[in-house]
Amino acid sequence: MSRPLTILGIESSCDDTAAAVVRGDVGAARVLSSVVFGQAALHESFGGVVPEIAARAHAEKIDHCVEEALAQAETPLTACDAIAVTAGPGLIGGVLSGVMCAKGLAAATGLPLVGVNHLAGHALTPRLTDAVAFPYLMLLVSGGHCQFLIVHAADRFERIGGTIDDAPGEAFDKTARLLALPQPGGPSVERAARHGDPRRFALPRPLLDRDDCDMSFSGLKTALLRARDDVVGPDRTLARSDQADLAAGFQAAVRDVLRAKTARALDRYMALRPQAPTLAVAGGVAANMTIREALTTLCTDRGVAFLAPPLALCTDNAAMIAYAGLERFATGAEDDMTLSARPRWPLDDSAAPMLGFGKKGAKA
Ligand code: KG4
Ligand code: ZN
Repeated sequence: MSRPLTILGIESSCDDTAAAVVRGDVGAARVLSSVVFGQAALHESFGGVVPEIAARAHAEKIDHCVEEALAQAETPLTACDAIAVTAGPGLIGGVLSGVMCAKGLAAATGLPLVGVNHLAGHALTPRLTDAVAFPYLMLLVSGGHCQFLIVHAADRFERIGGTIDDAPGEAFDKTARLLALPQPGGPSVERAARHGDPRRFALPRPLLDRDDCDMSFSGLKTALLRARDDVVGPDRTLARSDQADLAAGFQAAVRDVLRAKTARALDRYMALRPQAPTLAVAGGVAANMTIREALTTLCTDRGVAFLAPPLALCTDNAAMIAYAGLERFATGAEDDMTLSARPRWPLDDSAAPMLGFGKKGAKA
């Protein structure tokens, strides 16, 4: 058995400044610390992440965040084997803050530097939490990402579909704004939907007629806007029951699209005859109980294990970056001081590029 590796991870690609320490081996690692400074309050009044504000906040917080992660792990920097850092995709100012910080630490200590793709961090999380064997199917659904990946190996990801416009979390956030519900939209729409009738408004299920794993959520939002305008009062206020029915209708539409497209993604994945078939989810939207239940039932019917890592590791964090760095470093891979920050960095170069820009920057 090889010596366990201790990796410091740094993440700053969107609106969370994060650092973590992970120790162990490939498929058998532990999170010693995971510190996340969220920026939600800074961006709240702008209705989305403002890149310049995000970059400044990352630059201010990142050193402290690293210190805190090392202190909580009771691990001095010199006891680490490598420094892993998100090098993209994401908002360039934020990614640069992390990369510069990691380079500074690497130069000062002589520790190896390992650049990590943020999406690989999400996609490898099931190996950190549950040592899931390759190949597994991953559904990434957050405010900035939406894609199906077949994870064949730590460095081989096959993207078999994704959104062609908004990410589902983004659609939840916009829906909340349309319905005068608080941000972040996902939890507040889910709460409002609890008392609503999902069948009252006939909202579309976009792209279900297409025999692929691609999705679209921006038309759904437009349809919701029209439905809202039909019931809104003369003083522009929404009755509570209308708000609940609209929220429930929207949530049911997203659930149906995700369920139908996941069924297709499973068809493709199962054709590989995996020994221990597993669907793993990551991203904030995976917290939605209606969506989660639909996916759980689908997986049970297909004889596939359904895995949702703890929410703190599903949303943006640096433990996933440290772990993805560990997987890379264990194969002998490392970067040098020429490591650059990349706003776009698709995991699967052979897949067609995704369209559109989300509220959190370019879709990867
Ligand atoms: O993964 P995440 O924390 O950050 C990134 O986008 O990278 O995901 C945040 C997104 C937000 O858009 C939020 O509205 C959505 O996840 N979300 C939810 C729920 N909780 C968070 N969407 C639906 N239902 C939820 N319960
Ligand atoms: Zn993310």
